[in-house]
Amino acid sequence: MRTHYNQNFFDLLQERRSVRIFDQERFFDHETVRACLEMATLAPNSSNLQLWEFYRIKEGDLKNKMVPLCMRQKAALTARELVVVVTRRDKWKKRSEANHAYIKELYQAADEKKRRQALNYYGKLVPKLYTNFFGWSWIKQVIAWYLGLKKPMVREVSETDIRISVHKSAALAAMTFMYAMKAEGYDTCPMEGFDSKRVKNLLDLPKASEISMIIACGEAKPEGIYGKRFRIPSDEVIFDL
Ligand SMILES: Cc1cc2nc3c(=O)[nH]c(=O)nc-3n(C[C@H](O)[C@H](O)[C@H](O)COP(=O)(O)O)c2cc1C
Repeated sequence: MRTHYNQNFFDLLQERRSVRIFDQERFFDHETVRACLEMATLAPNSSNLQLWEFYRIKEGDLKNKMVPLCMRQKAALTARELVVVVTRRDKWKKRSEANHAYIKELYQAADEKKRRQALNYYGKLVPKLYTNFFGWSWIKQVIAWYLGLKKPMVREVSETDIRISVHKSAALAAMTFMYAMKAEGYDTCPMEGFDSKRVKNLLDLPKASEISMIIACGEAKPEGIYGKRFRIPSDEVIFDL
């Protein structure tokens, strides 16, 4: 039975499980996936650049072709829909310009200093971080190191750091999507066990894009939950300083 968890968020967190076998018989509402993806776009994301995309694959030919590329995982095989979460680091300029235009309007009435500060974020800082040409990653790291000698400085400025940052934001959107699905009574399984090269080819994704994860969606079959949940004791991972 699908359960709705809107009344208690903690119940929802307890009940969400990675599901490996989804029900094939019951009606699956694909519109719910769309609604939950809309919620996912509300997730916090670095500099609000929203460098993500979500590709939906419903049951059919394309989904069948995806199954072997997801290493024949049962979650992929039985999923009623697959959601491919894609990072688009390459779209930074467009997204930064959109934020810049939004800030310009938002700060219309603000004093000049405040307005300039806000606009500089997207006009100067984001381009410095996201521009990518040979050697720039090293130069950024040297600048961060130098500035860091005298005052606190963000150290994660290399090209790899930017990639990680984009994936962090995509993962938070993915998580938001999975909780939204659970709130709607549906189950999910995030997967990183797939052949990214072949999936990119099959979906005709741009070369610069990367796949953060593929999320199998459906309604859990009881045997689709592999055992009681296991977690390391909290005192090994949560520290009160
Ligand atoms: C980034 C990521 C990748 C994962 N990849 C897979 C996968 O390829 N196949 C799979 O069956 N589960 C995958 N999982 C699910 C984890 O195995 C699962 O979250 C973990 O065992 C904890 O179980 P729970 O989600 O039921 O609490 C993945 C989870 C995450 C967050």
